[in-house]
Amino acid sequence: MNKILKEDKNEIEYLLKSVNKLATDFIQSLDDRATSTNHEVEITSTLASQGLGAQTTLKHFVEKFSDIIVASSGPRYWGFVTGGATPAAIAGDWLATVYDQNTQSIKGQGDISALIEIETIQLLLDLFNLPDSFLGGFVTGATMSNYTCLAVGRQWLGKQLGKDIAKQGVCENLKILSATPHSSAIKSLSMLGIGSNNIIKVKTIKGNREAIDIDDLKQQIKRLNNQPFMLISSAGTVNTVDFDNFEEIAILKQDHNFWWHIDAAFGGFAACSPQYKHLLKDWESADSITVDCHKWLNVPYESAIYFIKDRHKTLQIETFQNSNAPYLGDPMDDFNYLNFLPENSRRLKALPAWFTLKAYGKQGYRDIVENCVAMTQLLAEFINSNEHFELLAPVHLNTVCFRLSDTSKSTNEFLERLNKRAKVFMTATVFNGDTAIRAALVNWRTNKKDIEIAIDEMLSLA
Ligand SMILES: Cc1ncc(COP(=O)(O)O)c(C=O)c1O
Repeated sequence: MNKILKEDKNEIEYLLKSVNKLATDFIQSLDDRATSTNHEVEITSTLASQGLGAQTTLKHFVEKFSDIIVASSGPRYWGFVTGGATPAAIAGDWLATVYDQNTQSIKGQGDISALIEIETIQLLLDLFNLPDSFLGGFVTGATMSNYTCLAVGRQWLGKQLGKDIAKQGVCENLKILSATPHSSAIKSLSMLGIGSNNIIKVKTIKGNREAIDIDDLKQQIKRLNNQPFMLISSAGTVNTVDFDNFEEIAILKQDHNFWWHIDAAFGGFAACSPQYKHLLKDWESADSITVDCHKWLNVPYESAIYFIKDRHKTLQIETFQNSNAPYLGDPMDDFNYLNFLPENSRRLKALPAWFTLKAYGKQGYRDIVENCVAMTQLLAEFINSNEHFELLAPVHLNTVCFRLSDTSKSTNEFLERLNKRAKVFMTATVFNGDTAIRAALVNWRTNKKDIEIAIDEMLSLA
């Protein structure tokens, strides 16, 4: 064994104690830590022949990077849709690294990590009040979950047209309908060879809405003249968390032949609250659903799940099976995650989710969701009542979309200055053709004090 590795092996307890101290200090600094940095970092391009050992490496890391790591898991980072990490999720995530399992099969590989994943999927179905007719698994993010679901949808569409796309490739012009797909769904269509230009855009409800116009959807379906299609629907949209009307779509599904996918990356968490679960009414009729865990479940990156109806199991296996590896067994008999999703080797991604679900339960997630929505409403009330800002869309759940009311001033410039001050972070967007700002609140730590700090910051610049 390499001498330095051997020393590190012997000193592992001391090393982990040092890491523990650094991690604890970071977590305890989150309320006050900068949400952005403009520090330059000098990039090193040579690797020394002799290693430093883990403890000295940690020291170098601290000197070079640790102070300028921003609080993206903190309470006022409202950019993109960035969750935090609950204490229990951090514990699970650390252990997933330490255990370093390759989570694959239930039997045959001699480890139980896939059973932990299967149990976690059951807990999540229960959290979302979804039936166990869905099979699920963990992937790296909602992009990969959308990809996984749409890949199985593509196989279904092929079968309707008498083709096995997994074997033959995309040899048909597939019909995809959507009103406001997230960019990752469009990216998935390009990765799947369907083509990102091949979405038939359905109108949205008139006014400042991003949800699908059901009448226009009916018109588009009529125009397809009984051709099978795939519908990508939203729960909710990334700018304004607008929800398509799933009750209406479920009724359409009874009479029309389509694969129904719901991107519920963060809106799916509306199911945790009796106050908001109506937004998802009838979503269980979908064929596939995407939910991101590194958003509102507040587990660390990279974590998302797909749910796909078990009646599509054969299509899913056709899409992802490792058919040239006889040592992996028959995918229909020997359950193995690598025949159900894009990755072959995979870490025990379920463990942080398992820990946080067990630690906080349904009530914990109801509290997190309802608190984030209440904080969003506080921020929206301020924006609505202040002359300097204009709310661009109703607040459906946990995002606020707004701009400066004086259109001679640049909203982008305002945002740049706001983010540079590093007390709060938001993202630029375009809504209905307007340059806008969006804040998405999905962090378990955010409280009234954070909203007050953000408002003070906004006022001092406006
Ligand atoms: C609705 C929606 N779908 C998909 C994604 C992509 O998620 P990820 O970045 O985890 O791949 C996002 C990210 O914000 C999203 O909001």
